[in-house]
Amino acid sequence: MSQLGVRVSVKAPSNIALIKYMGKRDGDGNLPENGSLSLTLDSLCTFAEVVRSQHSSGSDVTWVPELPLEARRRSDELVSPARLPELSDSGVFKVIRHTERVREATSKIFPKYGLKCSKNGNFEIRTANTFPAASGIASSASSFAALTLAVAQACAEEPLQFRTLWERNMELRRDFSEISRQGSGSSCRSFEGPWVCWEGASARALTTRMPEMTDLVLLVASHPKRVSSSEAHGWVKTSPLWNERVERANSRLKQLQAALDEGDLQSVSTLAWSEFWEMHSLFHTSQNPFSYWEAGSIQILQALSSWVSHPSQSSSEKPPVVTMDAGPNVHVLVPTVEASRWRSRLEDLFPGIEILEDRQGSGAEILEVEKLNS
Ligand code: PMV
Repeated sequence: MSQLGVRVSVKAPSNIALIKYMGKRDGDGNLPENGSLSLTLDSLCTFAEVVRSQHSSGSDVTWVPELPLEARRRSDELVSPARLPELSDSGVFKVIRHTERVREATSKIFPKYGLKCSKNGNFEIRTANTFPAASGIASSASSFAALTLAVAQACAEEPLQFRTLWERNMELRRDFSEISRQGSGSSCRSFEGPWVCWEGASARALTTRMPEMTDLVLLVASHPKRVSSSEAHGWVKTSPLWNERVERANSRLKQLQAALDEGDLQSVSTLAWSEFWEMHSLFHTSQNPFSYWEAGSIQILQALSSWVSHPSQSSSEKPPVVTMDAGPNVHVLVPTVEASRWRSRLEDLFPGIEILEDRQGSGAEILEVEKLNS
């Protein structure tokens, strides 16, 4: 029986940054101006499926607008139904270009780990997200991480050998996270978990004394962003607040690392609050000011500010960790053991609001590898 190809299914989570990647250095490759730090999520994720058929001499890459098999099979386990991303022509082009990038990278990376690469043939790509498009949950992070892993796995001549190494070898994951970064910067933080720091070219997992965390995302709106994050990365540099922003962010990063190391939720909450306000202030004060906030976002922030600045006097009650991505929705991170109490409290405070709930996760994973035989 000759092998005709391979079908690979993977899942990669989104991540939510407490110190933000906003502003990149000149040149290609998405190198950040400052370090960033995020919590990797779990079920708010992208499923990606790559089918590589080796029976043809071609090397075409096609994006197929259909749900991946695993996203359909696992529909019962998902926080919200898997849906197709709405890709514009330029979105499809980015997927194809990134597939080529990963395919090329395998011939450099694989030999370092004794892996053989077999990257010829046509590639079909299917992806689905488990959260609404443009909902302020970083879909580019999970999408590019999932695509990177799926293409790399599909290029392995010995699929099982790659899969085993992926699970055990952090260096291999780091090499592909650097390739992923070139497609979307924030995606390089979705390969490990739960806490991940990205400085310069690479991201790494942190050891902390934090309790297990849950992210409660208050969905204020889910219409497409008016300003893409790529545009935002450029425009923030025109704000007068950009002056010394890099120093402030890096100093906050150090303080946050120390707070995570101590499991000091109070300091984590204070630092996260200052940081997201600063990122949004950069947006609001750029030469062409823009904002992702909606009336609902401001209402929520006003209500939550008292929790963050004046936490309950009772010694066991710690403040929630509040942050916003480049979108109108508000992320409220709390210890998992307190998540249901916080959820009821938020539902009482903001009646009728939709809340997406997800716990921390451990990064991109391979779900299935199936050899396609004649
Ligand atoms: O990876 P990009 O280029 O989509 O950048 C997104 C950056 C933010 O999500 C706004 C912040 C962050 O660090 O995740």
